[in-house]
Amino acid sequence: MTGGAVAIILAAGSGERLGRAKPKAFLEVGGAPMVLRAAEAAAACSGVTSIVIAAASGLEERAGALVVVGKPVVVVAGGATRHRSVGLALAAIPEPTGVIVCHDAARPFASPRLFAEVLDALESSADTSGAVPVVLVSDTVKRVHGGFVVATEDRDELALAQTPQAFRAPALRDAHARAVRAGLEFSDDAAALEWVGYRVVAIPGDPDNFKITTERDLARAELVAAERARG
Ligand code: CTP
Ligand code: MG
Repeated sequence: MTGGAVAIILAAGSGERLGRAKPKAFLEVGGAPMVLRAAEAAAACSGVTSIVIAAASGLEERAGALVVVGKPVVVVAGGATRHRSVGLALAAIPEPTGVIVCHDAARPFASPRLFAEVLDALESSADTSGAVPVVLVSDTVKRVHGGFVVATEDRDELALAQTPQAFRAPALRDAHARAVRAGLEFSDDAAALEWVGYRVVAIPGDPDNFKITTERDLARAELVAAERARG
């Protein structure tokens, strides 16, 4: 990667579905807070030059003290939704930045290699504005409406999106701003680019890079962390 990318770590959610007292990003997995694990993975990728963390309002200082990763870190207060947190992080990134990679703190097992892979995929394709890791769907997927199955989807065309997701910064800023103007919010950043019509390339994701949403996910995360610690 030439020029270097800025990584945004989204860590401003409350973790309502987990229902713990602490916001999810500050919960520990294998002895380290998820936000630290996520930032460490970003920092360990040579293509990432600095990190912006969106932390829950009031926890900015704590996030800043926790996340010491050998590269510059800026912490901003996040917003009420993920989309707004991205907007607040974007405002803290210098305009000339060429590439931005967005990553959820709720995925503490993303590898530095996955960061490098999305950055490389973006770099190697001039007409592409984004690169997203996806994992294939193994179950048969049904469309369900009103409690009844109305269709069976073609699994070959379906995939589950992960983060980190890499973007050309002007496209990400444009798509994000347009979505805000249209009153739309998307659950990931690639969706905003797709909605505008930017090309987004899909690359193989990592099944171990799962998102922690529920207690069950957290229990699985502890098992994975313990397994890794044993080598
Ligand atoms: N996120 C954020 N700002 C928000 C909401 C979410 O930065 N206002 C971040 C979360 O910290 C998380 C990522 O976006 O890393 C994905 O969101 P999700 O898994 O839904 O986390 P939470 O919103 O914290 O969980 P919940 O929806 O259960 O409250
Ligand atoms: Mg959420």
